[in-house]
Amino acid sequence: MKIAKTHVTTRINGEDVEFLCEARQSLLECLRDVVGLTGTKEGCNDGNCGACSVLVDGRLVNSCLVLGVEAEGKEIATVEGLATPEGLHPLQQAFLENAALQCGICTPGFLIASKALLEREPHPSEERIRFWLAGNLCRCTGYDKIVRAVMHAAAQMRFAAATGSNGATAASGAGESDGAVARAAGTTTAAQPAQAGR
Ligand code: FES
Ligand code: FES
Repeated sequence: MKIAKTHVTTRINGEDVEFLCEARQSLLECLRDVVGLTGTKEGCNDGNCGACSVLVDGRLVNSCLVLGVEAEGKEIATVEGLATPEGLHPLQQAFLENAALQCGICTPGFLIASKALLEREPHPSEERIRFWLAGNLCRCTGYDKIVRAVMHAAAQMRFAAATGSNGATAASGAGESDGAVARAAGTTTAAQPAQAGR
């Protein structure tokens, strides 16, 4: 039986992309198996681990819970878009320097989720970082190194914003920040109760 496919036009990491997908296929499946961007990982495939985190129009989502056809007309950001020709994103650098990964399966999701946080809240407290990242599971690190890396990257990014430099000499630090930002779960805009800090 021939299955009809839908033509999707979207932008991924700043580039126009078109692909064909079945209506049942998730955005995660489309990114990995159709477009060939395998940086986004599949952990649970049911919305619990955060390994598949991407940004859709700037909003953090679990791409296993979004349909590929919903990417139509949207701007998608994946881990492949973090680094630039000039170098790694400060979060990537901080994860390396703080040994915030072991097997690495969860890392793209943590990087994208952390980027979403720091774009909204440049000066998050440690508590806020832990709360925000509660929907990203890691079976290797114990989380402390990840949280330290995010705090370190936040300090570097603030330093870079203040001085126009690359922030390489910034010290780690954190302050207070609050405000609820709901993470999209599923295909539309519903907040995910288990990840209410996002
Ligand atoms: S693969 Fe686990 S939340 Fe999507
Ligand atoms: S580094 Fe292995 S699951 Fe996080």
